[in-house]
Amino acid sequence: MDPPLSAKTRRSRSNAPAEEAQKPPLAERPLTQRRGARPAERVPVILESEGSDGYRLVDSGMGEKLEQYGPYRIVRPEAQALWQRSLPAKDWDQVDAVFTGDTEEDGMGRWRFPKTPLGETWPMKLMDVDFHGRFTAFRHVGVFPEQMAHWSWMAERIASADRPLKVLNLFGYTGVASLIAAANGAEVTHVDASKKAIGWGRENQALARLDDKPIRWICDDAMKFIAREERRGNRYDIILTDPPKFGRGPNGEIWQLFDHLALMLDICRELLSERPEGLVLTAYSIRASFYSIHELMRETMRGAGGTVESGELILRESEAGRALSTSLFSRWLPK
Ligand SMILES: C[S@@+](CC[C@H](N)C(=O)[O-])C[C@H]1O[C@@H](n2cnc3c(N)ncnc32)[C@H](O)[C@@H]1O
Repeated sequence: MDPPLSAKTRRSRSNAPAEEAQKPPLAERPLTQRRGARPAERVPVILESEGSDGYRLVDSGMGEKLEQYGPYRIVRPEAQALWQRSLPAKDWDQVDAVFTGDTEEDGMGRWRFPKTPLGETWPMKLMDVDFHGRFTAFRHVGVFPEQMAHWSWMAERIASADRPLKVLNLFGYTGVASLIAAANGAEVTHVDASKKAIGWGRENQALARLDDKPIRWICDDAMKFIAREERRGNRYDIILTDPPKFGRGPNGEIWQLFDHLALMLDICRELLSERPEGLVLTAYSIRASFYSIHELMRETMRGAGGTVESGELILRESEAGRALSTSLFSRWLPK
């Protein structure tokens, strides 16, 4: 067995420089010692997003996936697709875009367009909301369609509430969840550290013809923002949080999921309103079981009642019906 790692060694194996990562994210805000019973639990829960006109996982295999995003067929790496492809090679060759990940290149240069050169963006529509798909340098395309499982839950809660719900979308990226929340009648606060992502979010708001809807676009470090909201006494009925494994705030603040998640959830709990509808966490690309975020969520929500359900978000191939796991999730619901 490996000898136990010291905290220092553990951290220095992460992407962040060791010294920076050792700084506690918010020295003045310790973790709350929570008492009370843990919420009931439902595990495992597998949430499946259904294919739609706007998005379909067509096929996967041999370390790649073939997806339909609006008008385009796109091939991207997918480490979990260990099996053989269902469709013949010609279907995988006659696509609109392939992510090559060319390390010499940046931005659009990391994509290959076998048929005809394409622009950076294209029109997309999911759950009746228009936005831009986008070829980014990081293999992402401006939206994570598997999150539709959370979005349809959220849209239903917002639409059936007897008041306009307040939604906080932390690490909100290009804002599709924020737009869906606003389209259904919520007041939305969207937080992301990237100026570019905030710009794309605003662009998407215009594209979705939701300019008159209340969305606050905030470019800030997620931890700093929620700590400030806690002090100001601002509260939310629904909180969505989709933190990356590692990230940086606009002023170089370090986000390290394994170091900071407990405190983030602790503060998010304090930000829940008196009549909360849910706290939803998604985690991608981490080496952990859903139980690790499940038990953390249950500890965080001690004494709050309700239920914590956790598991995986999956997509199902339209071709062969195989399930592809995309991420882990855990969510606290008041019932
Ligand atoms: C793309 S989303 C999450 C996507 C997906 N969960 C994943 O990890 O691949 C991550 C977002 O978090 C933002 N982000 C990273 N560090 C942040 C921080 N410290 N505060 C706020 N947002 C941050 C990024 O700009 C990005 O838009």
